[in-house]
Amino acid sequence: YVYLNSLFQTFFFSLLHLSWKVLSSITHCPMFCPLQPTTKLFIDGKFVESKTTEWIDIHNPATNEVVGRVPKATASEMEAAVASCKKAFWNWSETSVLSRQQIFLRYQQLIKDNLKEISKLITFEQGKTLADAEGDVFRGLQVVEHACSVTSLILGETMPSITKDMDTYTYRLPLGVCAGIAPFNFPAMIPLWMFPMAMVCGNTFLMKPSERVPGALMFLAKLFQDAGAPDGTLNIIHGQHEAVNFICDHPDIRAISFVGSNQAGEYIYERGSRNGKRVQANMGAKNHGVVMPDANKENTLNQLVGAAFGAAGQRCMALSTAVLVGEAQKWLPELVERAKNLRVNAGDQPGADLGPLISPQAKERVCHLIEKGVKEGASLLLDGRNIKVKGYENGNFVGPTILANVKPNMTCYKEEIFGPVLVVLEADTLDDAIEMVNNNPYGNGTAIFTTNGATARKYSHLVDVGQVGVNVPIPVPLPMFSFTGSRASFRGDTNFYGKQGVQFYTQLKTIISQWKEEDATVTKPAVVMPTMGN
Ligand SMILES: *[C@@H]1O[C@H](CO)[C@@H](O)[C@H](O)[C@H]1NC(C)=O
Ligand SMILES: *[C@@H]1O[C@H](CO)[C@@H](O)[C@H](O)[C@H]1NC(C)=O
Ligand SMILES: *[C@@H]1O[C@H](CO)[C@@H](O)[C@H](O)[C@H]1NC(C)=O
Repeated sequence: YVYLNSLFQTFFFSLLHLSWKVLSSITHCPMFCPLQPTTKLFIDGKFVESKTTEWIDIHNPATNEVVGRVPKATASEMEAAVASCKKAFWNWSETSVLSRQQIFLRYQQLIKDNLKEISKLITFEQGKTLADAEGDVFRGLQVVEHACSVTSLILGETMPSITKDMDTYTYRLPLGVCAGIAPFNFPAMIPLWMFPMAMVCGNTFLMKPSERVPGALMFLAKLFQDAGAPDGTLNIIHGQHEAVNFICDHPDIRAISFVGSNQAGEYIYERGSRNGKRVQANMGAKNHGVVMPDANKENTLNQLVGAAFGAAGQRCMALSTAVLVGEAQKWLPELVERAKNLRVNAGDQPGADLGPLISPQAKERVCHLIEKGVKEGASLLLDGRNIKVKGYENGNFVGPTILANVKPNMTCYKEEIFGPVLVVLEADTLDDAIEMVNNNPYGNGTAIFTTNGATARKYSHLVDVGQVGVNVPIPVPLPMFSFTGSRASFRGDTNFYGKQGVQFYTQLKTIISQWKEEDATVTKPAVVMPTMGN
């Protein structure tokens, strides 16, 4: 009893990190609940306990303590979720676009009101610092705000009088049931890239969050329901490969949005497309920051360090590769100095600049790639592998690490490291740097640091990468633009959010109609102001 009691207390106090009320509303966990709170499924408007026998533990990456568990949904639960989406589709797609917009207007306010609570959940399960977690929610919130402009985004086109009395016009209509598969690194932002745009266009949606970080999405689903989303319009399942295959194969699912690793993305693109679905897959990256000797040094070094090590490098838009051109190579010692000064700590500790990696396996992989870099001839100027964080000795921490003298044929350059490791290469000229970036298979993002407009223009014009920052290290576009990763970083042909997002989640219907002028009836004029809308 004493043992159980103390376990219960540990569990209880760690939950006080979050808000107990919030967590129990998501998990329906009574005060004396089992030691591990279980994540529910969200099916047909209800948060339900899975009947599965297979569970996956959720760990706090700063301590590696088990803080919850998530079910691998059973086949019949997954079926029920799709059936619920399908059942809700007709009414939802026939709901006026103004009513859908109203729900999203309420939703964005609820997300704002709960931003801090959602962020705490993210830090608890994902490890990133609280400030970074708030950014995670905020970037997702911007997409919800943008979804509220659906009324102009979803307009069709018309061409009057193609011949006498004949007009052509198009409607932009929803597809049906769509699905999203999200990764662990942005527990709020990436799901919010997916279901709001899809749903405001009239689709219903099945989400599968990362099994490591389901908390933020469950919270967001609760808020969405509170905002007035009808039952069944959003369903959530949990799981791993089986859930992914289920989504790729289910005949009632019309489109899949995926963000994550290349291996998974290629697989989902291939399998989903083969089954006739639209698929958009945002995948891995190797983002280069090209530093010209005429750059503003102070600004550039700060930006570089922030973008390489922020979120412990677990962003696909992390600036993980620096290319120092000519004289800029002399800045290396100062770069190392700044990286050294970053504070590594649990994400909820004040002053933390970077938190832990998601899992011990992730840490092992990062350390292995660093070691391999050294073996292949890179110089290890800063080594974060043996870092000890006081009070969090069991966390998956890796400190800022810098590998210099890296050559394009080294493994640490070719593979996405996804950790706080900056790989530094050298180039003699701007042209050499451009060639290097264009030879790398990934095309997610890149940045150039310079004070010369002509250099910046030449680089932006010639570099074959989907998103380019000029003195901006992480060029993630605002939602009125689309997220335009390219080459090996993207599969599909319409990108996430913005105008392209609306195109992805809708199809056109073209109507050609003829109303002969001589058939027009003459009636009395209506004098009452017509009412429209809801
Ligand atoms: C669709 O909406 C109508 C009218 O509000 C309602 O009666 C009906 O039950 C709804 N159907 C579903 C499947 O939700
Ligand atoms: C690029 O980076 C983003 C943001 O970190 C990430 O979600 C995405 O998977 C990456 N790949 C592409 C093609 O956008
Ligand atoms: C990279 O290329 C150089 C020169 O061609 C060669 O000496 C070196 O062994 C190669 N390194 C790796 C890791 O392939």
